[in-house]
Amino acid sequence: MQTAPLSDAAKQKLNAVLSRYPNAMAACLPALHLARAEYGHLGDDVVKLVADHLALPVAHVHGVVTFYTMFRREPSGQNVLRVCTNISCMLRGGYEILGAVERELGIKPGQTTPDGCFTLIEEECLAACANAPMMICGARYFLDLVPEKMPELLAELRQTPQTELV
Ligand code: FES
Repeated sequence: MQTAPLSDAAKQKLNAVLSRYPNAMAACLPALHLARAEYGHLGDDVVKLVADHLALPVAHVHGVVTFYTMFRREPSGQNVLRVCTNISCMLRGGYEILGAVERELGIKPGQTTPDGCFTLIEEECLAACANAPMMICGARYFLDLVPEKMPELLAELRQTPQTELV
């Protein structure tokens, strides 16, 4: 499927970014943030579109997109649950939190619930180690989690989805 071209507003913002970053490679991240705001996820067609706009090799833009977990390659659910299992969270029950979410939603990391409400991502450190275990959903940090509370928390998110920051 052909991706719609960037909107005029996004093109204006992209030109403003390019005026601040004479090196197009340095403009890659802000350009991808713009594309994420425009399209939601960054499939091959969007990666090519950004590469063309920046006159960069598609392989370079693809490499940047696939390096950062904040960029999604596929459409995601309304709530993207980013559960940290890095060292501090792991030591304080991060895998128990991940397991509780998996059981409650019936999905594994990388998957989206059939109703499109939740996408589950297993993350590296999300910089809230002092309050491990933790997860992020949208702009909200959920800290000092315990497995027993996860069903209640997920029910709350089902009622009030937290959209990803763009
Ligand atoms: S290890 Fe989980 S927030 Fe740092």
